[in-house]
Amino acid sequence: MTVRHLLNIVDLSVDELALIGDLSDRSIDDLGRPLAGGVALIFEKPSNRTRQSMEMAVVQLGGHPVYTRGEEVGLDTRESVEDVIQILEGYHVMVAARVFSHGVVDRMAALSTVPVINMLSDWSHPLQALADVRTMRHEFGALSGRSVAWVGDYNNVARSLGEVCMMSGMSVRFACPDGFQPSRAECDRLSQLGPGDVASTDDPAEAVTGADAVHTDTWVSMGQEDEVEERRNIFADYSVTDGLMSLAADGAIFMHCLPAYRGYEVAASVIDGPASRVIRQGHDRMHAARGALAFLGGVR
Ligand code: CP
Ligand code: NVA
Repeated sequence: MTVRHLLNIVDLSVDELALIGDLSDRSIDDLGRPLAGGVALIFEKPSNRTRQSMEMAVVQLGGHPVYTRGEEVGLDTRESVEDVIQILEGYHVMVAARVFSHGVVDRMAALSTVPVINMLSDWSHPLQALADVRTMRHEFGALSGRSVAWVGDYNNVARSLGEVCMMSGMSVRFACPDGFQPSRAECDRLSQLGPGDVASTDDPAEAVTGADAVHTDTWVSMGQEDEVEERRNIFADYSVTDGLMSLAADGAIFMHCLPAYRGYEVAASVIDGPASRVIRQGHDRMHAARGALAFLGGVR
């Protein structure tokens, strides 16, 4: 049997995405204890939500998480990615990694006899997207026909969100400055994932007008710290403010994967205000992770 990995949302079919949603809703008792063994969690970058939610999800499913910092493993410095994964697959029922370069999780998956899970790379953040869609489903019920606006950098979180929204029947509008927008080819790729529309603009007001959910993320992702000043200048007009939120649909919600930088990508009055769902979104990370791990563990 081919081993399944979760490196990107598009590794899943639309039906499997729905199944992970259902598994996330099921009680821990109902899921049983499908993870009889260890799960390696390797982090080349810091984390709060991803580490905590994955450790708890593994425990809830009967497995044993082993957290290791990237510098201790030394992927491609202390030893090759290929040696690391061939050793870990002998100890664990799954291997999860947060990496700088997406190519590292690709190389792990190419060799691994156990599922490999991407816990954030420079390319994508599928576990975040599974939680995001859960939060929106809780808010809106059926997502088909709903619309999401993304304001800021077309980054790892934006790509996975775009994929999950399109596969859920939503439309997506990206507002990003020149040089930080999804390419035409990327918009075409996304639009083929579902019946909704994909649009890209440099105008936040255009993207947000009428949107049901407004999402953003830091302007400076992990690994880009040298670019802080430059990025703060480039993105200065891409802050989600009360004025911008007032253009969204009635009852629109604000979402952010966190960590957030108040006064930059979002005003404190928005992220701490009544439209914000960021705490629920953070909590949904654990339920979504449990659903994803149960799916990869063979629960149906
Ligand atoms: N949203 C998210 O992945 O948070 P952490 O970096 O804290 O894991
Ligand atoms: N885009 C951010 C997300 C953090 C959870 C980063 O990659 O740092």
